[in-house]
Amino acid sequence: MLIFGGSASEVLAIDIARIMGIAVSKLEIKRFPDGEKYLRVKQDVSGQCVVVIQSTFHRPEEYLFEYLMIADSMRDLGAKKTIAVIPYLAYARQDERFNPGEAVTIQTVAKLLESVGTNELYTVDAHLHRISDISRIFSIPAHNLSAVPLLAEYISKNIELHNPVVIGPDEESEQWAAAAAKILGVDFDILEKRRISAETVEIKTRRLNVKNRDVAVIDDIISTGGTMVETIRVLRQEDAHKIVVGCIHPVLVGNALARLYDSGADVVLGTDSIPSPISRVSLAPTIASALRRVKE
Ligand code: R5P
Repeated sequence: MLIFGGSASEVLAIDIARIMGIAVSKLEIKRFPDGEKYLRVKQDVSGQCVVVIQSTFHRPEEYLFEYLMIADSMRDLGAKKTIAVIPYLAYARQDERFNPGEAVTIQTVAKLLESVGTNELYTVDAHLHRISDISRIFSIPAHNLSAVPLLAEYISKNIELHNPVVIGPDEESEQWAAAAAKILGVDFDILEKRRISAETVEIKTRRLNVKNRDVAVIDDIISTGGTMVETIRVLRQEDAHKIVVGCIHPVLVGNALARLYDSGADVVLGTDSIPSPISRVSLAPTIASALRRVKE
């Protein structure tokens, strides 16, 4: 098995390869003056099972197209099998036609990935709220790994919590909050969220009393930070003690991180699905153990 990292996930690819006891394979990627990209695969891939690690955050079209170039070249150069590892899968939010005429963009992404000869896909906690099984979108084997165990174990080992409770900011976060609470061996609750605009949400508490308790708020994505800022405001109002905010995908648009600390978060952490100042939890162990199970 050969592991390659696209320019979105070079470090993660090195970490995964290291855990698997192999050296990461090399790509040369540069830009022509007109903005187009150049790619050279610097390793013989003929007859090999090739893994391409490439998250699709911040500049999703660029990273997606780069993945397409890499995978298409692997097939062209005689690779036996190409496995895509896309920890943050862009366009998963638009997994349904919410209004007439809208594009169901995740379907377009799936068709593109398959069109370049991707044989199997791994992603992490995809934001597919309307689709329970990722295999429904892809016709190749597709796997949705979860980073919640890594996140919860990190919290448990590194952050001292007294009488803690896990909170999910909205209904959709229940799966992540429940899983984290189970690992931490504590209660969980979810709040009620109403989205007013892309950056503004209204959050209401439900049943759990957080007074003087430490709280771990768990969600899949922090994008503008609007959801977490409002959640922290409500928890502070309810006299929560320490507030730890954990997410899988730290998209962190603009000054989202500063807003989280300003609104009273004590700790903010996420994974390296998207490299960021809070990416303290590496996905490498989870991805490496999934890849070890692959039939080459
Ligand atoms: C929504 O369904 C997601 O789970 C997150 O709550 C959302 O993406 C966070 O976005 P923002 O940080 O912009 O509020």
